[in-house]
Amino acid sequence: MAKVLIAYYPSGETTKVAERFNLNFKNINFKSELKEIKLIEDLEMRKQFKREKKLKLLNEITSLSKYDLIIVGTPIVAFTSVPAVNAFIRSLPKFENKKVILYATGIGLPGKAVKKMSSLFSMNGGKVIGSKVFSSIFDFDEKKLKEVDVFFETLKKEILSKNKNIKAKK
Ligand SMILES: Cc1cc2nc3c(=O)[nH]c(=O)nc-3n(C[C@H](O)[C@H](O)[C@H](O)COP(=O)(O)O)c2cc1C
Repeated sequence: MAKVLIAYYPSGETTKVAERFNLNFKNINFKSELKEIKLIEDLEMRKQFKREKKLKLLNEITSLSKYDLIIVGTPIVAFTSVPAVNAFIRSLPKFENKKVILYATGIGLPGKAVKKMSSLFSMNGGKVIGSKVFSSIFDFDEKKLKEVDVFFETLKKEILSKNKNIKAKK
C-alpha cells in the first residue's frame, strides 16, 4: 500500500486542508499519516523569523524511505511560508525523485510562500508535482474545501504513477 506523509503547520485553515487531503488519499487506498510541524520551543511568529536558521523541531523525521509522497502545508505569514515549516523542509533527509505536493493557506496575498518551499525542496532532491494556494477572507467552508478535491483530481495521475529511482541518501 502506498504511503503518504502530510506535514503541516497547525493553524485553522492549514489543518482543515491537511485533513481534506487525508480523506482524498484514503479514497484511493493510500495510507496517509498526518503530522503537525512543531518547534521544541513554541515561538511567536516574529521570533521565528528572527531565528529561522536556528529553529529546532520537536519531532524531526530521520527517514523518508517508507513514504511514496510528501505533502507540506503552511499558512502564509508576511507573504511567505512559516519559518518552522522552512526549518522542517531543511531538516528532512536527502532523497531523490520523491514526489512532493505543496500548499499554502491565506487570505489572498500569496507572496512567495510556495516558491520558497519549492526552492528548499529542490535542494534536497524533492520533485514537486503540484502546488496550490487556498485563500479566503472567510473561514474555509465545505465549498472552499472542495477546491482541495479538485486540485487532488488534477494530480491523481501523477500521484498514482510509480516513483522511479528513489534512492534514500541518509
Ligand atoms: C501575522 C499574520 C500575517 C499574515 N500574512 C498573510 C499574508 O501575507 N498573506 C495571506 O494571504 N495571508 C496572511 N495571513 C493570514 C493567514 O495566512 C491565515 O490566517 C491562515 O492561513 C489561516 O489560519 P487561521 O485559521 O489559523 O487564521 C496572515 C496572518 C497573520 C496572523
